[in-house]
Amino acid sequence: MNISILTVFSQIYDSFLQTSLIKRAQEAGTVSFDIQEFFSFCEPKERIDSPTFGHGAGMVIKPEVVQKAVEKQETKHGKAFKIFLSPQGKKLDQTLAKKLSQKFLETKHVMLISSRYEGMDSRVEEYYADESVSVGDVVLMGGDVPTMMLLETVLRYVPGVVGKQESVEYESFSGPFVDYPQYAAPVEWNGIKVPDIVRSGDHGKVSEWREAKAAEKTVKGHFEWLRSHLMTDEQKSLAASFIPSHYVVLMHDEILLEKGRVGTTSVASLDIHDIARSSRTYGLKKYFIVTPLEDQQKIIQKLLSFWDSDVGKTYNRGRHDAVSRVCIEPSLQDVLKRIEEEEGKNPVIISTSAQESDLSNPINYYDQEKVWSLDRPVLFVLGTGRGLSEKVIKKSDFVLLPINGFSNFNHLSVRSAAAIIFDRWFGISTKGEHS
Ligand SMILES: C[S@@+](CC[C@H](N)C(=O)[O-])C[C@H]1O[C@@H](n2cnc3c(N)ncnc32)[C@H](O)[C@@H]1O
Repeated sequence: MNISILTVFSQIYDSFLQTSLIKRAQEAGTVSFDIQEFFSFCEPKERIDSPTFGHGAGMVIKPEVVQKAVEKQETKHGKAFKIFLSPQGKKLDQTLAKKLSQKFLETKHVMLISSRYEGMDSRVEEYYADESVSVGDVVLMGGDVPTMMLLETVLRYVPGVVGKQESVEYESFSGPFVDYPQYAAPVEWNGIKVPDIVRSGDHGKVSEWREAKAAEKTVKGHFEWLRSHLMTDEQKSLAASFIPSHYVVLMHDEILLEKGRVGTTSVASLDIHDIARSSRTYGLKKYFIVTPLEDQQKIIQKLLSFWDSDVGKTYNRGRHDAVSRVCIEPSLQDVLKRIEEEEGKNPVIISTSAQESDLSNPINYYDQEKVWSLDRPVLFVLGTGRGLSEKVIKKSDFVLLPINGFSNFNHLSVRSAAAIIFDRWFGISTKGEHS
C-alpha cells in the first residue's frame, strides 16, 4: 500500500515515520510513504498561495499547485483514494477509522492532502476529495498533525501493523464501551491496590468484572458515544445498571395561573397515559402525579383501577404495564419523601420550564454525566398551566433549558415535552452505525 502525503512542510514527518510501529510497517513492506511538498510543484520563485478573493484576511493554496501534485503522484503510484484533512470534514472516530482502513486495504494508493494558512482554494476539495476528515471541532495551524492522527488510527486496523490484532479489536470505542482498567505489578502502588478479582486467576469472573467496569466508565464518562452505538440486549442492561434511578412528577399544584396567581390545575387523561408510556419506554422508575384535590385524585384512581383490573390487563398488557408506574401524591414534598424512602437518598431535582427567565441554574439535555456524578436518584419536575411556580423552581437543583426549534413558537403540550426531554436525556440514536 502506498500512501502519498501532500503538505507544505514535509520535515514534520521525519521522526514520525522513523518511529516504532510505523517504521516497522515500512520495513516489513506493509506500507510505503511518498511525501511531497507543494513547493516542488511551483515554478522557481512562484508562491504556492495567493490572497483570497473578497474581503477578509488570508492566503489560500492555489488550485493549480495541488492539481500538479495530485497528477504527478497518480502518474507515479496509480489512481488514489484522496482524503483531505479539513476542520469541516467528517469527524474522525473509531467507526470512521475502521471504514477508512477498508479503503486503505482495497486501494493500492491513498493520498492524504493537508493544508495550512487559510486552507485551500475550495474548488480543489470539491473536485478531488473522496473523503474529507476532521480530527475534531478545533482549528489547527495545519493538516499535518491531523494526517498523523489519521494514520495512527487507521493503520492499526491494517493487518501486520500492530503485533496482536486482538488488542485492536477489544479497545476503547471499538464497541459501545471504552476499555476496562488495566493493571500490572506492583500489586500496591502509592497506597492504591490492584483489585483482588483481577489477580484471582478466575478468567470468567475477571471477564465479567472487566465488562462491568468498562460499562460503568462509559456511562459515567462517554454516554454520548455509548448511546450512538449499537448494543446487544446484555450490553444495554449492563449499561442501564449504572444509570441512577430516574423519576418524573407532573405537578397539578404550585402552578402559575393567569394574572400571576399560583394554584392547582385539572388532570388530563392523555397526560396520564402518554407520560406513563414515555416513562416506561425510557426506563423511569415511577411517574408521580401531584394534586392535593381529592376529586382529581379520584379521577386518576378510577383510570388506574381500570388498567389494573383483569379486563384492563387483557385489553392491553403494555398499557397496563406503563400505567402501573403511576403514583398519586398530594404534594411535591410527599414525592421527595417517597423517593428518599425507596432510594435512601434524596433526588437531584431537575425542573423544566418554557421560560428563559427561570434559568438560575441551567443544564442542557446532554449534561447527564454531571448529574449522574452526584450519585443520587434524579427527579424531573414537569409543570402544567402556565408552568411551575417560583417556589418549585427555587427548590430545584437544576432547570433544564427550554425546548426550542428553529421557529419562535414555544407551546408544546407537557406530554410532548416529557417525551422530548426523555429522548434527549436517555435516547439511543445509533447514528454512528448507519452513516
Ligand atoms: C488554519 S486551518 C484553516 C481553517 C479554515 N479556514 C476553517 O475555518 O475551516 C489550515 C488547515 O489546517 C488543517 N486543519 C486545521 N484544523 C483541522 C482539523 N480540526 N481537522 C483536520 N484538519 C485541520 C486543514 O488542512 C486546514 O485547511
